[in-house]
Amino acid sequence: KKIAILFGGCSTEYEVSLQSAYAVIKHVNQSRYETVLIGITRQGEWLRYNGSLEQIMDDTWSTDPGCVHAVISPSRHVRGVIEFHRDGIKATRIDAAFPVLHGKNGEDGTIQGLLELAGIPVVGCGTLSSALCMDKDMAHKIAMQAGIKVPRSIVVNGKISEGELQQLVRELSYPLFVKPARAGSSFGITKVEREDGLFKAAVNALEYDPKVVIEESIDGFEVGCAVMGNEELIIGEVDEIELSQGFFDYTEKYTLKTSKIHMPARVDEQTAERIKHTAAAIYKALDCRGFARVDMFVTPGGELVFNEVNTIPGFTAHSRYPNMLKGIGMSFEEIVDKLIRMAIE
Ligand code: DAL
Ligand code: MG
Repeated sequence: KKIAILFGGCSTEYEVSLQSAYAVIKHVNQSRYETVLIGITRQGEWLRYNGSLEQIMDDTWSTDPGCVHAVISPSRHVRGVIEFHRDGIKATRIDAAFPVLHGKNGEDGTIQGLLELAGIPVVGCGTLSSALCMDKDMAHKIAMQAGIKVPRSIVVNGKISEGELQQLVRELSYPLFVKPARAGSSFGITKVEREDGLFKAAVNALEYDPKVVIEESIDGFEVGCAVMGNEELIIGEVDEIELSQGFFDYTEKYTLKTSKIHMPARVDEQTAERIKHTAAAIYKALDCRGFARVDMFVTPGGELVFNEVNTIPGFTAHSRYPNMLKGIGMSFEEIVDKLIRMAIE
């Protein structure tokens, strides 16, 4: 079977994707699947890539002379293929595509829709759940409907004056988190302690997305839970982020300088069970398929408050999602294999 692995992407998380893709490609069962690597540059150019994995890791892959243009056609007459353009067109039938892409233009339903139109089965969540989970406001609304507790928040749509903004947040209590509604790896997020920092934080978040969510900070700590499956779910271990300052921003996520990830989380068994149960409920409510990492807060009183779902969570050899499944005895190879099988079957 031929599996297209998509990496890179027109997203602020381009570099994270290169690292995830490196690990995923390395762990694909080569005796069962032939991989077709499709790199997407930061500018959105799609290229078939035949070079080494190291060149993906160090981001020199797109200069490889063997790269050819790759085109996915939504035409009904050429279903299930990716075309490669050089000295004419060569179409290759693809059995499934694994978008190892994070954030905008990859994790948000756009690629999933394109693949669906082209008749190529996709690994992981489909168009609707990808789009819903990418939008922090929409994800919270759906979760709330399913009886899940979410932080109190307001939404800003487009440019706003400082006066209007202060008016909008008057019912919320500081500290507040100001977040682009649709971004990942904490890009554009600011924790605001007092009124005087709010406007600047909103202007910054608006640079990433015209829709911004401002929500109350939740006391306690953040945990994550790996979920895998379609109807029948496999639930991984729960992990915990221990912060010694600030919040889990981009630098902390990828350097862990002052924070630590505990796997399993330092919670009692009963709390761990509640977290897993809630993660599964959120996954189902948002119509997820394949896999996702569900993040939530545990308050000092033991209440669970939803944070977000990552439909294509970080997937490097050290990432949280594969580690949580390793916690229940699944190897990286088994995870990748199961994800591909679920898309094909
Ligand atoms: N958005 C990053 C990749 C994550 O959720 O792990
Ligand atoms: Mg994220």
